[in-house]
Amino acid sequence: MTFGMRLRRRGLLLGSAASATVAPALVARAAPSFRDDPFKLGVASGCPRPDSIVLWTRLAPELQGGGIGDEAVPVDWELAEDEAFSRIVKRGQHMATPALAHSVHVHVRGLEPGRWYWYRFRAGGAQSPVGRTRTAPASRAQLDRFRFAFASCQQYEHGYFTAYRHMAARALDLVIHLGDYIYELSWGRHHVRRHTGAIPTTLGEFRDRYALYRSDPDLQAAHAAFPWLAIWDDHEVADDYANDHSPRNRDATFFLSVRRAAYQAWFEHMPVPPSMAPTASGMRIHDRYQFGDLLDLMLLDDRQYRTPQACGTDSRTTRRAMDCTDRTSPSRSLLGEAQEAWLDESLAASRARWTVIAQQTLMAELNRGTTDQPGFNLDRWDGYPAARQRLLDGLVKHRIANPVVIGGDVHSFWVSDLKRDFAANGSVVATEFVCSSITSEGPSAESVRRALQANPHLKYGNGEKRGYVAIELTGGSLAAHFEAVDDVRDPQSGVHRLKSFTVESGKPGAL
Ligand SMILES: [Fe+2]
Repeated sequence: MTFGMRLRRRGLLLGSAASATVAPALVARAAPSFRDDPFKLGVASGCPRPDSIVLWTRLAPELQGGGIGDEAVPVDWELAEDEAFSRIVKRGQHMATPALAHSVHVHVRGLEPGRWYWYRFRAGGAQSPVGRTRTAPASRAQLDRFRFAFASCQQYEHGYFTAYRHMAARALDLVIHLGDYIYELSWGRHHVRRHTGAIPTTLGEFRDRYALYRSDPDLQAAHAAFPWLAIWDDHEVADDYANDHSPRNRDATFFLSVRRAAYQAWFEHMPVPPSMAPTASGMRIHDRYQFGDLLDLMLLDDRQYRTPQACGTDSRTTRRAMDCTDRTSPSRSLLGEAQEAWLDESLAASRARWTVIAQQTLMAELNRGTTDQPGFNLDRWDGYPAARQRLLDGLVKHRIANPVVIGGDVHSFWVSDLKRDFAANGSVVATEFVCSSITSEGPSAESVRRALQANPHLKYGNGEKRGYVAIELTGGSLAAHFEAVDDVRDPQSGVHRLKSFTVESGKPGAL
């Protein structure tokens, strides 16, 4: 890899003059050169469809501020059928602009279904690392096996991203990130490294936070190894925010400007197509992906459209065990009316042997009070029980063959039986697996023990270990492997299997 290091001024060393007929902001520079590696944030790919994939990188010779300035920079990309790039099937040039922080989102179409590809970028004299990606199998193709991992909650200061190094080395078709990809807040007792800058509220500050997280080599390795799908939770914007309302920021106009900046920065740093770019009113991230006849995957957004938390909670009380009559109101929605309707239509159309609903948090009821005096975390589905009921009713109504819910957010591993009526000990509608955090500090062993004791539909819980979940799907069964990092404070830590569970086709509930 060679990098131009002949900087004559901060940022780019520019080549030949531009044509006067081209808009100045989009001038193609013949020979840009950087004073440092512009591919410090690595490469990524995502949103796999049978005939297309999205390739991503962002030019940032400097982590803080990017280090390029106001110039547009041409970036060449190549996609090959082999790692040596001897059979290049697609190539092109993309103009990286300052309006998008010199990020590159290339939506490559016309590809073969269900196969591996390799890709790389070039800008100036610099070449990116090589990434590997895979298109989705044809939607009706008979598929024997599909393997994916899911993860969430990666507070940079709480530990090293060793879990991703382990994930990158295994055989997977896809990675799903369920949110808290960055943290806006510093918290916790044991920090192994530090955030730069204060709590981000501007676009520039959010970009710098993403750049810091993306500079991590283990996170880069997992992005470079597989296509990703990502949804956000609250910490990409502000802790416990709901829709256009933040319990930590009472100035609604200011909070909306923070949310706009945060969504923009999320778009700039995720391998998503240009068509997903945010608008003035928001950004749609909920979507449906199909992987042959084996897997139908629904990605949900539980932040952008939700009703504010019940019982008049604010930032100090959302985590307390609470209850009030408002909590159970049918008018409360975690997904919003339009997304609920979309999910219902998507479930009606689902024909796959397994249907996975990927969402942010624990869906099962978790009563942290007593039978007489129940108490719930109102930031989760427990704050929206009527909406949860509608979702679970939809799985039954549409006769979904093998519904599985995956979640994160709670910094602990969980397995649960999802029921239409948790209290009545009724039949199991779906199986739920929740991954622990990549690094973020988890709950105490005592609180997990109490939760398991008081909520019999929770089959397993572990808050002591950080890690991720790997899923292996076949027509007959689903295997879920809980992979745990020995010590997130040790960058060389080992990762060991904590537990494995199986779901047999036609029998909801994990064994
Ligand atoms: Fe989190």
